Amino acid sequence: GVKIVTIGGGSSYTPELIEGFIKRYHELPVRELWLVDIPEGEEKLKIVGELARRMVKKAGVPIDIHLTLDRRRALEGADFVTTQIRVGGLQARAKDERIPLKYGVIGQETNGPGGLFKGLRTIPVILDIIRDMKELCPDAWLINFTNPAGMVTEAVLRYSDHKKAVGLCNVPIGMRMGVAKLFNVDASRVHIDFAGLNHMVFGLNVYLDGNNIMDQLIDRLTSSDKAGMTMRNIADLGWEPDFLKGLKLLPCPYHRYYFQTSKMLAEELEDAKKIGTRAEVVQKLEKELFELYKDPNLNVKPPQLEKRGGAYYSDAACSLICSIYNDKRDIQTVNTRNNGAIASIPGESAVEVNCIITKEGPKPIAVGDLPVAVRGLVQQIKSFERVAAEAAVTGDYYTALVAMTINPLVPSDTIAKQILDEMLEAHKEYLPQF
Ligand code: NAD
Ligand code: G6P
Ligand code: MN
Ligand code: MN
Repeated sequence: GVKIVTIGGGSSYTPELIEGFIKRYHELPVRELWLVDIPEGEEKLKIVGELARRMVKKAGVPIDIHLTLDRRRALEGADFVTTQIRVGGLQARAKDERIPLKYGVIGQETNGPGGLFKGLRTIPVILDIIRDMKELCPDAWLINFTNPAGMVTEAVLRYSDHKKAVGLCNVPIGMRMGVAKLFNVDASRVHIDFAGLNHMVFGLNVYLDGNNIMDQLIDRLTSSDKAGMTMRNIADLGWEPDFLKGLKLLPCPYHRYYFQTSKMLAEELEDAKKIGTRAEVVQKLEKELFELYKDPNLNVKPPQLEKRGGAYYSDAACSLICSIYNDKRDIQTVNTRNNGAIASIPGESAVEVNCIITKEGPKPIAVGDLPVAVRGLVQQIKSFERVAAEAAVTGDYYTALVAMTINPLVPSDTIAKQILDEMLEAHKEYLPQF
């Protein structure tokens, strides 16, 4: 049987994963699932772990669920290691989102200054996990869901020699579901040629039953007010119809931060005043979820989890593991080593592209070059991720300042330095390398 270790097991998303493993048990016989957390997360781990046990019992699948704070013990002999950690918790995320706003900059926990700091806190921990894996389960696959997933995958590829690592996000699957909904068809009939980076991915072409529907899709996306397709955590302010008609690409929800910067900033400033930043909203959602999870009669994933941005996470994670395990050679969209798939991105860098998923891992499907209109932005974000990853590993102040300044959401070197200095101070407990 298969042994899976989930680091950050106390996450409220864990029932998604359990549901995914239950659904696929016939082709992915998980014998042991180890949920690992840290002392700060122990209470959540217990609550969600008990729910996980009730879920597998109700489903009648013989998965043993272990709860532990001992990561090394859990990793012994693992086949797959998934990571879903949040270093510093939601309090740190709230700072990532709030501090930049004071300077008139969108914080954003993955794309803006917030993403830089989430990366600085997270990358050393992930590299540490990989060092443990080298020793305790050198042949295991690392499936990283931890954000900023693109920057983290870049760091893993550049600063570790563990080859079996894949970064994963629910945005591509969410976009596919969004298109299916717009056309009122089953998602299995929709195919999207994805290429770009994490939270910077484009649909180059979109097909329904094999026919290219990009023009009709853009018509539908722009004809009704709120059909812009987004995630729970990103406001849908609608797209300028003629912009999408000109672009002829399907942007991802996160592109709003770059193509609608001033509108998004105004929205985030207003939200911060009225309902709180997303981290503050999620703090409340999470409390509600864990109250539900405590109910001893609950033995399925509650629908309320869909209020979180990570919907379909289990489908993405479990299908990936299942296809690696069974050498399925189906197409999935993951973060992996480019290897020439996107011509204008270095071969050794991480990209988010459609891949054939094999026992040896994802084989990226070549797309050639990205359309010139978006090529530069994608390269710029890749530069940001690389410089940020270097800062995370070295703890070099100047490198971190360059990363902050070259982020497209940050308007000047001086503002970059002010935000950097305030955030380094606010997060110092989680930044031992600085
Ligand atoms: P969360 O705040 O619930 O954190 C999950 C768990 O990680 C917590 O129980 C926490 O105690 C634990 N943790 C923190 N540091 C740890 C460490 N060093 N070792 C082990 N456990 C640790 O977070 P969440 O909202 O469930 O999100 C988890 C992660 O998944 C975040 O990084 C988030 O950004 C990411 N995420 C990614 C996607 C995606 O598309 N890739 C979607 C949703 C969430
Ligand atoms: C989307 C993104 C994730 C992100 C999540 C935030 O699903 O793909 O990478 O972590 O939204 O959701 P939240 O509910 O935490 O705001
Ligand atoms: Mn994501
Ligand atoms: Mn709002």
